[in-house]
Amino acid sequence: MSRQVPGVRGVRALLPAEAHAWTAVESCARGLFAAYGYQEVRLPLLEHTELYARAVGEVTDIVEKEMYTFVDRNGDSLSLRPEGTAGCVRAGIEAGVFHNQTQRFWYQGPMFRHERPQKGRYRQFHQLGVEAYGMAGPDIEAEMILLGERLWRRLGVKAHLLINSLGTAACRSAYREALVAYLEAHAADLDEDARRRLARNPLRVLDSKNPALEGLLGAAPKLADYWSDEAAAHFGGLTDRLDDAGVRYTVTPRLVRGLDYYTHTVFEWVSDALGAQATVCAGGRYDGLVEELGGAATPAVGFALGLERLVTLVTQWPREAPLDVFVITEPPARRRALALAERLRERDYKVEVYLGSAGLKSQIKRAQGSGARLAVYAHAEDIELPGAGGSQERAGWNEAAAAIAARLENRGMNG
Ligand code: HAM
Repeated sequence: MSRQVPGVRGVRALLPAEAHAWTAVESCARGLFAAYGYQEVRLPLLEHTELYARAVGEVTDIVEKEMYTFVDRNGDSLSLRPEGTAGCVRAGIEAGVFHNQTQRFWYQGPMFRHERPQKGRYRQFHQLGVEAYGMAGPDIEAEMILLGERLWRRLGVKAHLLINSLGTAACRSAYREALVAYLEAHAADLDEDARRRLARNPLRVLDSKNPALEGLLGAAPKLADYWSDEAAAHFGGLTDRLDDAGVRYTVTPRLVRGLDYYTHTVFEWVSDALGAQATVCAGGRYDGLVEELGGAATPAVGFALGLERLVTLVTQWPREAPLDVFVITEPPARRRALALAERLRERDYKVEVYLGSAGLKSQIKRAQGSGARLAVYAHAEDIELPGAGGSQERAGWNEAAAAIAARLENRGMNG
């Protein structure tokens, strides 16, 4: 045997059982997105590296060390997308769909980050994301959070909502100054990671998972003390709406997110059942990004959920239409079995014809395992092959298909 070529670390294939589960979750989400007025966009996997440097931020883990970046044959630096928001904004600006308009978009697909793979963390992972443009008030954040909650409910997922506000860009920079002064005064007590973050992106120190820093970070200046009246009113507007809807949440002063484009609201849905990678869905408002990327100032909000993580939390699988007919056949009858199956599909039934090398007994087992409502045995003697277009024979096929259809309409169970 030849040597096998291994798959890439952190990059997984989905075989039918898993792919089926994913499709069920995706179609549930797709239905909800439509119910909230979101339209699908299909975004490229490749963008200029500069897009992510400017949108996500030069001094973020994603841009500093996680992107799959290469120089193409024209000498351009390109990156595989590490997330969907930057590309969505770039595409929207180019298409001119933001100016004086409101938009609700959704997308899905693979994202790429060169992180250390572990449970729930992959190098190719998949997001479902929503982005809304042109809506400045907290209503859209509330609506988006309700959409998320409804999705969890439909899928039987338990997740808890964490929210915070980063305020406006001005609040954030005043806060940053105070935080830097505090952290510098305690520099000796910081770990190496926190010292590195302090020098490059101080807000990210708040994200430290080191329990030894808990006390020090708990006593750090609070973002809320630096909110402007406008920022406080916006956040109060959101919590009012969540309270109206009965959504439970925890205001989490140290929730800052790892991407630089956020202003005002940030949120994460977390679950204890996920282990160390506890966030199943995350997002927030990013009012400055469209302008930063060359468009007109446009308020914007979005979130993305990680499909790998969501699928592990699902307890209530959305029902997929089952197979209607499983056709058991042996090679001499296959030509006619194919013809019969086509006639059934013509009537919109889902049909699988067995075309492998297993014998009858094992095919019957497979038919039972397939979940099909009806198993049909097409054997050589029973059904005449249709001749060269003879109408008599055609009618015969249609009769066979009609008889099967009648049985499907009258009974739900295997027969
Ligand atoms: P993010 O927090 O970087 O935000 O990613 C969103 C979600 O993607 C995470 O909560 C997680 O479920 C999943 N995820 C991230 N990295 C990985 C990984 N390596 N393996 C598996 N799952 C992962 C964003 O990407 C923003 N674009 C969200 C957003 C949209 N903000 C506004 N609009």
